Amino acid sequence: MWSKVASVLILILIVCISMYFGGHGLTYSFFTLILLMLGQAPTQRCMFLSKKYERAVLVTGCDSGFGYRLAKTLDSMGFVVFAGCLSSNGQGAQTLLKEGSRHLKLLQLDVTRDEDVRLAKAFVEANLPEKGLWAVVNNAGISDWGETEWNSIEDYQKMVDINLFGSIRTSIAFLPLVRASKGRMVFVSSIFAFFNCLSMGAYSVSKRGLEAFADCLRVELSNFDVKVSIIQPGNFGPATNIRSKKTTQEIWDKLDDERKVTFSRSYIEFANEYFQSLCSAGFKDSRMVIDAMVHALNAAQPKSHYLLVSTVEWVFFLVFPLLPTFIKDAIFTYTPIYHKRREILSQQKQ
Ligand SMILES: NC(=O)c1ccc[n+]([C@@H]2O[C@H](COP(=O)([O-])OP(=O)(O)OC[C@H]3O[C@@H](n4cnc5c(N)ncnc54)[C@H](OP(=O)(O)O)[C@@H]3O)[C@@H](O)[C@H]2O)c1
Repeated sequence: MWSKVASVLILILIVCISMYFGGHGLTYSFFTLILLMLGQAPTQRCMFLSKKYERAVLVTGCDSGFGYRLAKTLDSMGFVVFAGCLSSNGQGAQTLLKEGSRHLKLLQLDVTRDEDVRLAKAFVEANLPEKGLWAVVNNAGISDWGETEWNSIEDYQKMVDINLFGSIRTSIAFLPLVRASKGRMVFVSSIFAFFNCLSMGAYSVSKRGLEAFADCLRVELSNFDVKVSIIQPGNFGPATNIRSKKTTQEIWDKLDDERKVTFSRSYIEFANEYFQSLCSAGFKDSRMVIDAMVHALNAAQPKSHYLLVSTVEWVFFLVFPLLPTFIKDAIFTYTPIYHKRREILSQQKQ
């Protein structure tokens, strides 16, 4: 998207320069274009792939969503792909195997299991192409919503086990192979790593932890010429399987008596519908995320962070972290869900 905006701006600039300088316009325009292209060059340049299937990439969570699509994209680009799947016999994994080239290899890889990671590493080591393991994309993850105190400690543990410890476990195991190829580590985080939104507490805890790990790793790995990137997608609910499908009844049944009285069934019903509809309103296509992942893997100068949101959200997230906490918190109180929440919960108190 930004490259399109940049192209339009460059075009407008060239037209303005031509009009201003009259006869010399074309010469000035030519040099401006060269300078602008040089400025773009480091981010656009691709590193390699002169010869196909000489470098491998491990992607976790390839049964569906971003992982599934990334595995297919990298396969078609000429990477050897080790596609880690939670259920290697499942439908997503089997379709991937059927539609991919013979260089795409399935791995049974539940990132919460030491034994799966150990076996996956042994398989990768035994099947490495000429230039080794270029990258690991820590993509496997789950998401859920629910007010901070509605979640049990087991809910927090499950979220963190997959989203955070799963990525740490995989990274530690495969890092020596990536270091040997001076390659890339990529972590799929979320906007909720830095955006404290209502009902995303458990997910935010896991993704904020993941970013802390990735940030520390980036600093340490720079000495080894290994680059670390964090992917921060916004709402791509309709493009993947990430959406939580829990019912109001399921949420209600988990609450103790005190919380049932405090929050009320009508609020839980409202909140459930609200979050389901919010997820359905996101991007329907995951192309933007896949392009960012490919850039992180393939560009000479990958970015440390890829924020993947609409233009309006991009501007909002640029300003938001700079605001004092009381203003940040006040912004939330003006959103429809907070308003409705206050209304229903105050009726409850009476
Ligand atoms: N979609 C979005 O809006 C969005 C936004 C921000 C960040 N993200 C992040 O993007 C990543 C990919 O999610 P997605 O949106 O593509 O959702 P998805 O379609 O549900 O993909 C997640 C993948 O991870 C797998 N998985 C779950 N638990 C696992 C485990 N223990 N070990 C290995 N794999 C496991 C899932 O397998 P099953 O299909 O078998 O469950 C699935 O293949 C996640 O880290 C997510 O947090 C997504």
